[in-house]
Amino acid sequence: MQRDDPVAQLCVYRAEAGLHEIKRVERLPVETKDWDEKRAKIGLQEGYGLFSSLTSRRHSRADAHVILGQEEGTIMELSKWINSNYLTPEGIADVRESVKAKPTMKYCVLDNFFLPERIDAIIAHHATLKFDEAADRTGHDMVILPYDGAVKWADGNDVGAEFYFAEEVKEYFCYLLNRLKPPRTSVELKLRWHKPHATGFWIHSDSVWRSIVAIMYFNKNWKASDGGLLQLWRPDEASYDKSTIFDNIRSDQRLDFLNENQRLKTNTPGGGWPSHWPHQSRDMILVDQIVPAYNRLFLCDLDADPTFHSVTPSCDKIRTGFVYWLNNESHPNFKGK
Ligand SMILES: [Fe+2]
Repeated sequence: MQRDDPVAQLCVYRAEAGLHEIKRVERLPVETKDWDEKRAKIGLQEGYGLFSSLTSRRHSRADAHVILGQEEGTIMELSKWINSNYLTPEGIADVRESVKAKPTMKYCVLDNFFLPERIDAIIAHHATLKFDEAADRTGHDMVILPYDGAVKWADGNDVGAEFYFAEEVKEYFCYLLNRLKPPRTSVELKLRWHKPHATGFWIHSDSVWRSIVAIMYFNKNWKASDGGLLQLWRPDEASYDKSTIFDNIRSDQRLDFLNENQRLKTNTPGGGWPSHWPHQSRDMILVDQIVPAYNRLFLCDLDADPTFHSVTPSCDKIRTGFVYWLNNESHPNFKGK
């Protein structure tokens, strides 16, 4: 689905011999009220079969292979990584309903997401890595961006890679978000490190070809007062004269004003406005703040809404985690890493 498409594309596909083939494409108006019901009937039954196979003992592993169309022995069992509360039919249904209930941005926050031994192994490995600030902050034309972080791009050698790059995880995240997986996808994953007194991230949206984002936090005993909060912003239809304007944010600027303005006005969010929006200043309303606490997963459908977000400056603690993106390689603007 393209964010700027006047209609939403429903791609109905199934896995055959390990390759996803588009079987049928329907076009439904975005405003169609029974969108979820149609999608549920057509596409998601297959997904549910997958999860009941992978997460319960009612089906054999062989069934799961049939559903995924993969060779025997290649299934990555989600139950070896994820808290079982999020793998039962009831647990999955609860998450999906919570996402449906969100009025604009479609997201959920899952606490205690990984099994303790898995998250602790990922964190122990993370502590051995070197992180590159320039690689995280340098944009087009070598401009330093107002996003204060450092990165190590994950690869197959990193602890957690078995989870990060698994097809089953892509399917699982899409299913939790009540959506289908694009026909051609890839995963990019930033292992992230933020220094004490990090200046924060200015309001931005992620690249249009990024279909899903999942952010995992590693930070034990993190309080809201420690800062580093993930903020979600909604562009408002109304514009108030008294809203303070914030534009052309400098990369060395500490963004404390993000804590002080639950409504602000800007015409320069990172990544700009969606291409079909008029180019004009808009009021942005703060709608949620996520504390970056240990073993907390923020999962969000970026195709459902641009999902403008920011990070507040942090205090005296190091802040760590990872960011997972599911890329839609079929998107016309797809550029990859
Ligand atoms: Fe982002």
